[in-house]
Amino acid sequence: MRSSSAERVLGLLREPPAEPDVAAGYLDLLGPSGRPSPSPVQSVMESAFLPQIYERVWRPVGFNLAKGWPIGPDTATEHAMTRDWLGLSQPGDAARPPAAVLDVACGPGNVTRALAEGVGPDGLVTGLDASETMLARAVADTPVPGPGDADVCYVRGDAVDLPFEDASFDAVCCFGAMYLFDDPWAALDGMARVLRRGGRLTILTSRRPIPLRTARIGGELIRRATGYTVFGDREVTRALADRGFTGIRQHRYPLMQVVGGRR
Ligand SMILES: C[S@@+](CC[C@H](N)C(=O)[O-])C[C@H]1O[C@@H](n2cnc3c(N)ncnc32)[C@H](O)[C@@H]1O
Repeated sequence: MRSSSAERVLGLLREPPAEPDVAAGYLDLLGPSGRPSPSPVQSVMESAFLPQIYERVWRPVGFNLAKGWPIGPDTATEHAMTRDWLGLSQPGDAARPPAAVLDVACGPGNVTRALAEGVGPDGLVTGLDASETMLARAVADTPVPGPGDADVCYVRGDAVDLPFEDASFDAVCCFGAMYLFDDPWAALDGMARVLRRGGRLTILTSRRPIPLRTARIGGELIRRATGYTVFGDREVTRALADRGFTGIRQHRYPLMQVVGGRR
């Protein structure tokens, strides 16, 4: 991690550590003990194997099927839509905003890098994740920014208890992870808190395709057994409205949904 990026991200923290640990190429705020007892699905995210195949195999196959491939958006279309919903530019645009962007649960940095393509040279894109193996891959796969590029940096922290100051970011993204959080609504409170007024939030998460009580009970059993939450069609949009978001929009796919709004 470049020392200038580390300083910028330290400046966003509520409680900056006295001796920041950036030895692994990311700022580690969890330390060697990490978080206690991850759920069975989160244990997979913390394995050494998954980060090696995540971006090229797991993500495109699993997510594109869940989004209804070949009708649903592929990864490139999803990235372009996300930059648009977050008020960022597209690659090749003449002007790119100098935005501060947070990618919550960034995994190996696949979405973080796509967001950085829509941010200008004075911008800062921060990827946060709890998994050391995912972050190691994110650091290895993220090139050092050139003179015209945004800064990109990674933080090891807990998405359910975001370590940043209030109103630190212009845009917050949380893709493919809300269903893994032990308390997704506390995580959403944190995302709203760290967004500046007028800032934009976009979430890609699970979707329960059948709005029946039995499907809800089935979803609850899955959550208890694996730690994976399946969200109803109105649950996430309603949660954004409850937190004062406006301009709420939603794209529904067979097993996933993208929800966005403005703080
Ligand atoms: C499926 S990956 C998503 C990666 C990327 N955002 C994407 O859309 O492809 C889910 C990530 O969520 C992370 N995660 C789950 N619970 C977390 C938590 N409480 N705090 C931080 N990261 C968490 C996992 O470590 C994993 O890297």
